[in-house]
Amino acid sequence: MQIAVIGTGYVGLVAGACLAETGNDVVCADIDPDKIALLEGGGIPIYEPGLQSLVERNLRSGRLRFTTDIPEAVRASSVIFIAVGTPPDEDGSADLRHVIEAARTIGASMDGERIVITKSTVPVGTAAKVRDAIEAETDHTVHVCSNPEFLKEGAAVDDFMKPDRVVLGVDSEYAADVLRDLYAPFVMQGNQILIMDIASAEITKYAANAMLATRISFMNSISGLCERTGADVNMVRRGIGSDERIGHAFLYPGVGYGGSCFPKDVKALIRTMDELGADSSILKAVDDLNDHQKRSLLRALVTRLGEDMSEMTIAAWGLAFKPNTDDMREAPSLVTIEGLLERGARVVAHDPEAMAEAGRRFGDRVELCEDDYAALEGANALVIHTEWNPYRRPDFDRMKAAMAEPLVFDGRNLYDPARMAERGFEYHSVGRVTVEVG
Ligand SMILES: NC(=O)c1ccc[n+]([C@@H]2O[C@H](COP(=O)([O-])OP(=O)(O)OC[C@H]3O[C@@H](n4cnc5c(N)ncnc54)[C@H](O)[C@@H]3O)[C@@H](O)[C@H]2O)c1
Repeated sequence: MQIAVIGTGYVGLVAGACLAETGNDVVCADIDPDKIALLEGGGIPIYEPGLQSLVERNLRSGRLRFTTDIPEAVRASSVIFIAVGTPPDEDGSADLRHVIEAARTIGASMDGERIVITKSTVPVGTAAKVRDAIEAETDHTVHVCSNPEFLKEGAAVDDFMKPDRVVLGVDSEYAADVLRDLYAPFVMQGNQILIMDIASAEITKYAANAMLATRISFMNSISGLCERTGADVNMVRRGIGSDERIGHAFLYPGVGYGGSCFPKDVKALIRTMDELGADSSILKAVDDLNDHQKRSLLRALVTRLGEDMSEMTIAAWGLAFKPNTDDMREAPSLVTIEGLLERGARVVAHDPEAMAEAGRRFGDRVELCEDDYAALEGANALVIHTEWNPYRRPDFDRMKAAMAEPLVFDGRNLYDPARMAERGFEYHSVGRVTVEVG
């Protein structure tokens, strides 16, 4: 099949490479000439496990190519995915500017019948707007479908190649047949293709992210109760997760959810529900709780060390919003570090993959250390934002020797509080009692 993917970010690049891997001819198009030049030269603009070799292999085979010429990509393809960004507007709603612009370009460039699929996360009713934007530019037949993407950054290639399910919102049998055929190689192990109406598909994506965000905020809320009562949130988590109606996934308390999806999608869903008169009170609470939780490490640091941090060095381990990605969009680390800088602290940070991104965001306001232990040198405290594997089993003696004070604020519950006390650390974590040096 000849496929165009418009928008070559996390979703578009992964989707394009995976669709090429299953034998399609794919052109990935983007308006960003630097990104396309990098990709054409074999570079990858993001860190995503397995993506580099996938892109290289399919570039070499000629099944994958990159372009800034979007009209040419549209003419060369029978199926066109829109995977451009849908950032939050000022009022929290999804900004559809890029989606509609892509739709207009598609309409103006079509030279025959096309299937156009919105893969970007878009509010219910957007497919109709996409259709209108295309049809305003062309008399050719267009089939507009919704195919929301559920991949997780950090495991995006695996998720795309072996999705839990593929959701297809369609309004024609023809489009359903073509897309079922396109996705057949990805569901060989019995995972489902769910064909539904377009509105249901559009809502499914937001409902999935909102449910996951709700589980996180729920556990963060329970962790606040645990901290006040001497209970251990890990025990509570296991106690409820073993109920098969609840399950264990996404019950980890922490420093709040970040990333390019949950925060903006929860806010956008609230806006849509409010506009349509549906009750959004659960999601407003989820969103508020998350804002509160994202400031929790900063609050704990200020309570312990005081407002004036001008004489202090704080080490930060983990900057990305989660492990296995360099993505720092809406990362909790940004909230803590900005708060520390405002209070005059010197911040020295390490992340296995997000150093370049951190450099772009902080400039020289934060010292970035290639070595995690070097970042601890002379630190009055260590704050942990991301559960990268190398942080899970560090050399605690080396840590203690490097730090000015053995004080750890862990937003991811990586260590056992009792063991930390034995090792001589004052250890603050989430939903568990703070253990003083034993
Ligand atoms: N990142 C994720 O984990 C994830 C997962 C599922 C769904 N989504 C959704 O997928 C969509 C894309 O997300 P992303 O993280 O890949 O975004 P991104 O910001 O990484 O990439 C978007 C790309 O679109 C390009 N673009 C913008 N306007 C364009 C236009 N008119 N024509 C061509 N290219 C254009 C940008 O230059 C950019 O390269 C969003 O709606 C997002 O909510 C993201």
